[in-house]
Amino acid sequence: MKLGEKIMFGFAVIVVIAAVGKGYRQFTAEDRPPPKNYYEFDETGLQGHLVYRKMGCNSCHRAMGTGEVGVAPVLDGVGTRRTRDWLHQYLTDPETLVPGTAHHGNLGPDFRLLEETDRVKLAAFLSGLRANPNSPNYPIKPVSSDS
Ligand code: HEC
Repeated sequence: MKLGEKIMFGFAVIVVIAAVGKGYRQFTAEDRPPPKNYYEFDETGLQGHLVYRKMGCNSCHRAMGTGEVGVAPVLDGVGTRRTRDWLHQYLTDPETLVPGTAHHGNLGPDFRLLEETDRVKLAAFLSGLRANPNSPNYPIKPVSSDS
């Protein structure tokens, strides 16, 4: 090989190594974007999911890939938007947090009629519906994720 060819060959080898390296990195988990929404349920939260389903909340709300959109807020990310205490209070007397709320029986189920045990379970379930910053459900002001 002439000197010029050697330089060209060396250059080509470097380009190929760089391209393969970049391609490989794109397949590793680190570079993949995080899921938009994620779920973190404790034992009570899992029981809350059953209450949520039994009460037909997804006839108005959307969460975990099922339910209606347009009628009521999407609940994916509600656990990042609200604290567990806020959710428990909302499930106890939503009027104190959202004046004129649909959940006084105007449109949605009247939360004042819930059993306290179901409130605790539902608050735990809702609190586990989390969103990452790349999700459209990520709030402008997220709450601390452990509350
Ligand atoms: C008939 C429709 C309907 C049904 C069924 C319904 N909701 Fe709602 N929900 C609404 C509407 C409308 C809002 C909007 C806020 C308001 O009016 O308080 C809302 C708001 C909420 C919010 C507040 C979200 C936020 O961040 O502000 C939570 C939490 C919630 N609902 C939970 C539930 C749960 C749990 C159930 C089942 C027990 C349920 N909803 C069933 C209509 C409904």
